[in-house]
Amino acid sequence: MPSLSTKPIYSGKAKDIFETDDPSILRAFFRDSATAFNAQKKGEIQNKGKINASISALLFKLVEQTGIKTHFINQVSDNELLVKRVTIIPLEVIIRNIAAGSLCKRLGIKEGKVLKAPIVEFSYKNDELGDPLLTKAYIINALEVSDENTLRQITNLALKINELFKEFFLNVGIKVVDFKLEFGFDKDGNLLLADELSPDNFRFWDAKTNEKLDKDRFRQDLGNVEGAYEEMLKRVKEGVNKSSIQPQVNILPSFLVRVQVLPKSDILDPQGQAIEKALMSLGYKDVKNVKVGKEIVFEISSDSEISAREKVKEMCEKLLANPVIEDYKIELVVKNK
Ligand SMILES: Nc1ncnc2c1ncn2[C@@H]1O[C@H](COP(=O)(O)OP(=O)(O)OP(=O)(O)O)[C@@H](O)[C@H]1O
Ligand SMILES: [Mg+2]
Repeated sequence: MPSLSTKPIYSGKAKDIFETDDPSILRAFFRDSATAFNAQKKGEIQNKGKINASISALLFKLVEQTGIKTHFINQVSDNELLVKRVTIIPLEVIIRNIAAGSLCKRLGIKEGKVLKAPIVEFSYKNDELGDPLLTKAYIINALEVSDENTLRQITNLALKINELFKEFFLNVGIKVVDFKLEFGFDKDGNLLLADELSPDNFRFWDAKTNEKLDKDRFRQDLGNVEGAYEEMLKRVKEGVNKSSIQPQVNILPSFLVRVQVLPKSDILDPQGQAIEKALMSLGYKDVKNVKVGKEIVFEISSDSEISAREKVKEMCEKLLANPVIEDYKIELVVKNK
């Protein structure tokens, strides 16, 4: 384990970030301090640091299991995670399933309205400006903090993570109302999910009673804040136990693949010739150019149709066909999303 330095390189509203003797690894210490309304309201939530570190560790592992890359390495103590250092993209990526918080204020919608489809929105990670809501053009052309391609990747990842969390939490009686994610690039240019995954950054409601089990209890002085955080850790552990008995959640889309392999037109095809001859002798004189090949069908999961097609092409070149004497044709249809 990297040795522990004592002076944080960054001390935020909820965590202290320390360097380790490996420059690519940081240590995030989760504190009990809590803030709300852009740090206008300050306080402490007993045991929040430990609870949030543990919930984050479990949820990052869950996300990793689906093939999405995160900064998480491991939990090294009650309050601390080792993480890969990234350059954080200064965007708060917010995913909403049910109207709450700033969305209700901004649009005059009643809290609790189930949105027609999940919304991904971006705000500028800038406390001085109060984290303003951004448009794509603001991000790309005014702030220049990201580009079209990265935003598309982030949006896709955010929606996948949302589907994963919605299913995971519904299994333990929790509605995921909304949440905030942060992404960054590591030294090798990989886009990683970073920061934390905890009730500080999520709105969680009990599925039966709609009781709030997140930082809104602190924001709105609802009492029993620590109890709510503890309850969420309990439910996350329950969810992990359940999902470890079930087959791994696979949120990648599946494709049905049909590969048709035929001898190339200039290659002698004795089987084809034999059939052609036999057909002739049965009186089918108008038949010509008979080729005999094979058809291979299977399912494959991949994050996009393009990458699935690439993989199948590779399989054809390596195994399914003999590219010197055979042509192949790939058909691909989406099985599920
Ligand atoms: N893997 C990482 N590498 C580098 N920085 C990270 C990583 N994960 C999280 N961070 C950053 O570390 C800080 C975590 O501290 P904290 O959550 O307390 O910040 P904060 O008060 O929310 O501040 P900010 O407004 O900067 O997010 C955040 O700025 C976050 O973006
Ligand atoms: Mg933070």
